[in-house]
Amino acid sequence: MDRKTEITRLLETEGTPAYVYDPRIVQNKAGQLKEAFPNQQLYFSVKANPNVEVCQVLAELGFEAEVVTQGELVVSLKAGFSPEKVLFAGPGKTSKQIEFALQEGVQLLTAESVNQLRLIDQVVGSMKTKAKVLLRLNIPSLHNKQSESMMGEGSQFGIDTQTLFENKETILSLKNIDIIGTQFYAASQILDPTRLAKSVRIQIETTKQLVDKLGIKMDLLDIGGGFGIPYSSSESPLDLQACAAEVREALKEICDSPTKVIVESGRFLVGDCGKFYTRVIDVKKSFGKHYIICDGGMVGFTRPILVNSPHKVELFDSVTDNPVETCVICGPSCSSIDCLGTVEISVPEIGDILSVGDAGAYGWSMSIQIFHCLTPPKELVLTD
Ligand SMILES: Cc1ncc(COP(=O)(O)O)c(C=O)c1O
Repeated sequence: MDRKTEITRLLETEGTPAYVYDPRIVQNKAGQLKEAFPNQQLYFSVKANPNVEVCQVLAELGFEAEVVTQGELVVSLKAGFSPEKVLFAGPGKTSKQIEFALQEGVQLLTAESVNQLRLIDQVVGSMKTKAKVLLRLNIPSLHNKQSESMMGEGSQFGIDTQTLFENKETILSLKNIDIIGTQFYAASQILDPTRLAKSVRIQIETTKQLVDKLGIKMDLLDIGGGFGIPYSSSESPLDLQACAAEVREALKEICDSPTKVIVESGRFLVGDCGKFYTRVIDVKKSFGKHYIICDGGMVGFTRPILVNSPHKVELFDSVTDNPVETCVICGPSCSSIDCLGTVEISVPEIGDILSVGDAGAYGWSMSIQIFHCLTPPKELVLTD
């Protein structure tokens, strides 16, 4: 059965709104990432899409899992990632969550503050076990307004290097954990192939300073990732090979240590594997514009509103001679913000299904899930 027929059948039986994920696309993107970074440990950032079947595809392909909550950890283990292949990251880990992760067999965590370092050390000590820790860093010089920047200015993510220097004694007093490296995450949605390499160079420099000033041996660099996908026709796809070549060049600057490198990816791996399908309930004209009211909108698919990012909207199953007009695609809730975008498409008819593209990353996982008691979208996975 071809993909379109399979999706039509699924939507007929399961109904809309729904996310539909295609494992073949995930496999293809995973292949591209593996080819670009053949010698690195590749982590799937589960936050992008914690659907267990999607995670399963990546677990089977040998990816490891980067999780930031206990819920994501539970999904990852269910999907088949072994605990020693899980990195527990995130700025809000509680002692209970750390304990749970260690009990499950997780061995590698990040710390995003000195308090978190102390807490991890304390929990590890109380459980009479051991754990390895990466320091997530925040570096002033890295702010770049052009991408979705995650460091370079004050934020809840990472530790300022100055703070680490000031807390040298505390850090050296922690006896239950091994601090083995640093984690960087410069920005999300990077489409410029040189951007990541620039951040890797700064990470290497900073890690060397930390090794010198704190006297800790660090041989693991988690260089983050942030590989983007084009959401609109004005954006070009990231040249992943060029990006990887730049990163390789930057990594050559490491003399003997650090030696192991982690690359993380969410959006690039799963962003285009999923579409959001929503059925047209009403069509009307108001103040000269067409308003298309659909059964699915911001409840279950909030990203277009949260990030103010356009997603491609197309008529899925109908052929129409209706003229192309400016259409505002609205959800069913009584909220003026419930609008998935304003697009130029052939005006749909009541009952038509619209597909919203690139919804596989930060779609369901980033969404408001309850408002007006509306039914959340289903998540459907096509056959492999
Ligand atoms: C530390 C870290 N790693 C990985 C990711 C995943 O990023 P992306 O989905 O852009 O690949 C994020 C996203 O916020 C992050 O903060």
